[in-house]
Amino acid sequence: CGIVGYVGKRNSQDVLIEGLKKLEYRGYDSAGVAVYTEQGLEVKKSQGRLAILESKLGEAPLRGTIGIGHTRWATHGKPSDVNSHPHTDNSQKFSVVHNGIIENYIALKEELAAKGHVFVSETDTEVISHLIASLYDGDIVKAVQQAVKRMTGAFALGVLTEYEPDKLVAVRLASPLIIGVGEGENFIGSDIPAILEYTRNVYILNDGEMALLTREGVELMTIEGNFISREIFHVDWDIITAEKAGFDHFMMKEIHEQPKAYRDTMGSRIDASGRKVVLNEVKLTAEQLRDVNQIHIVACGTAYHAGLIGKNVIERLARIPVETDVASEYRYRSPIITKNTLVIVVSQSGETADTLAALREAKRNGARVLAITNVVGSSVAREADDVIVTWAGPEIAVASTKAYTSQLIAFYLFGLYLAQTLGTQDEAYIAEVIDAIKLLPEQVEYILGQAEAVKQVAEQVATHEDLFFIGRGMDYAVALEGSLKLKEISYIHSEAYAAGELKHGTLALIEDGIPVIALATQHDLFEKTVSNIKEVKARGAYVFGIHSAGEDELKKSVDQTLEIPKTLPLLTPALSVVPLQLLAYYASLARGNDVDKPRNLAKSVTVE
Ligand code: G6P
Repeated sequence: CGIVGYVGKRNSQDVLIEGLKKLEYRGYDSAGVAVYTEQGLEVKKSQGRLAILESKLGEAPLRGTIGIGHTRWATHGKPSDVNSHPHTDNSQKFSVVHNGIIENYIALKEELAAKGHVFVSETDTEVISHLIASLYDGDIVKAVQQAVKRMTGAFALGVLTEYEPDKLVAVRLASPLIIGVGEGENFIGSDIPAILEYTRNVYILNDGEMALLTREGVELMTIEGNFISREIFHVDWDIITAEKAGFDHFMMKEIHEQPKAYRDTMGSRIDASGRKVVLNEVKLTAEQLRDVNQIHIVACGTAYHAGLIGKNVIERLARIPVETDVASEYRYRSPIITKNTLVIVVSQSGETADTLAALREAKRNGARVLAITNVVGSSVAREADDVIVTWAGPEIAVASTKAYTSQLIAFYLFGLYLAQTLGTQDEAYIAEVIDAIKLLPEQVEYILGQAEAVKQVAEQVATHEDLFFIGRGMDYAVALEGSLKLKEISYIHSEAYAAGELKHGTLALIEDGIPVIALATQHDLFEKTVSNIKEVKARGAYVFGIHSAGEDELKKSVDQTLEIPKTLPLLTPALSVVPLQLLAYYASLARGNDVDKPRNLAKSVTVE
């Protein structure tokens, strides 16, 4: 989540909205503001993108010069109007925005409910506003301090009360928060970009510190109430760099976030012994899983490509027949679905109309539906019977990178879970795969370190209008994703081909100098793929080969190679796709395209 706050002379609603726009990368399933107006403390909030709130505020502005705002990435409680921040107490005199988690909120909630407080949302945040209200006796700073003492967890807060309408109180306990210092105006924000448009003078709060902001100034203190003096930090980078964490584009930032996304998605799903996958969120019983006699994976775009890997993974690990389909086809081809069919829908956003419709079709036909999605509380997550969340964090660039690879991790985990439940693989093998999965994040880091080499190939590729990706088995599925990535953002036409199928037609298109990206990471298919590479080389292709460590004889057959670290053949997609993401990125850049917002496309497609 992201929080902002303002006290000054400007129309606070505008400052809050601009700030929230910069924080949308922290989540965007709902947004809200609270502003002190002539009517008192008024709140406007809405499920969905910030744009919805912005248009609501456009129609009925909240006029006032002090306010707080929030953009949410749902954790406690699904995204909905009522679960959106800011939250208030029953008297509506206190308003809170919050980033983080209050661990003991249930106990606090029960205690307050016993005293007559009535709660309207499922969130932990609402408890804070009630707690502060219950402790207030004329001094908001004191009330917040006392409330914070009662709360455990990691959080950052922004607090307003109608009783002291010139004061904005901010607290930081393990969730980031900064204070912007202006002239006759002051700001709070989860991150510097939120306020950079207005001031470059910043205080960075440390854990356990808080601040009282008024129009006249900022007082910094510990949560125990001891005043602190601190030097102002002068920010000299620009807004665009800041929100992209120093990267030129969201896509590159997200490519670099993959090691973290892998770790977060594995998270607590691998048990401490490292020999077992634990999927507490999956309610399917062992008996129900044993009854599953076919699996359909349904998705669109990049998520569909993850589903192609998912098919390989599940069939190999669990020996259940799997079909992978694009959602817009699945719906209308009258698929054979029974109550023994498990349908897995894959969707980053969880809002893709075709995928959602396929999910509903599957349910209508009596199938059990498991969703793999990156958005907690999305439509797909709400309607599916079981959900595996990919913890990739908000993905902003239209071309999906970290969401795709996190979906692969989810498939590995689910495949292992099936194998362990159905007994299709022995324990030692499962432990071996788990060990190898755990190594993936640092192996991705190693590949990212070779970006410069990929860039050189990309710059060459960018001068062509057509090229090919080839591979066998799982490499073929990755080739499809690599080709899509390149098309989406560089607008270069490319085709992915199963390497062995080339000679049955497409080989006719190979001519002198045409680039071919060849994936040869599957050990047991290596020789076969090398033969296909020789076929294109013989027709003049310029081949960029990607191979696993230890198989560098590929160098002899191609023009340029890139090595990925050694892992199990089952897991190579989680590595080999990374250079292809970089290739697409640099090719797009070389062509001067808008990398993050390619023409004609949208991040989330909610029409059929
Ligand atoms: C859009 C995006 C693609 C994405 C697809 C599926 O077309 O541009 O990048 O792969 O939707 O999105 P989902 O959110 O369902 O994964």
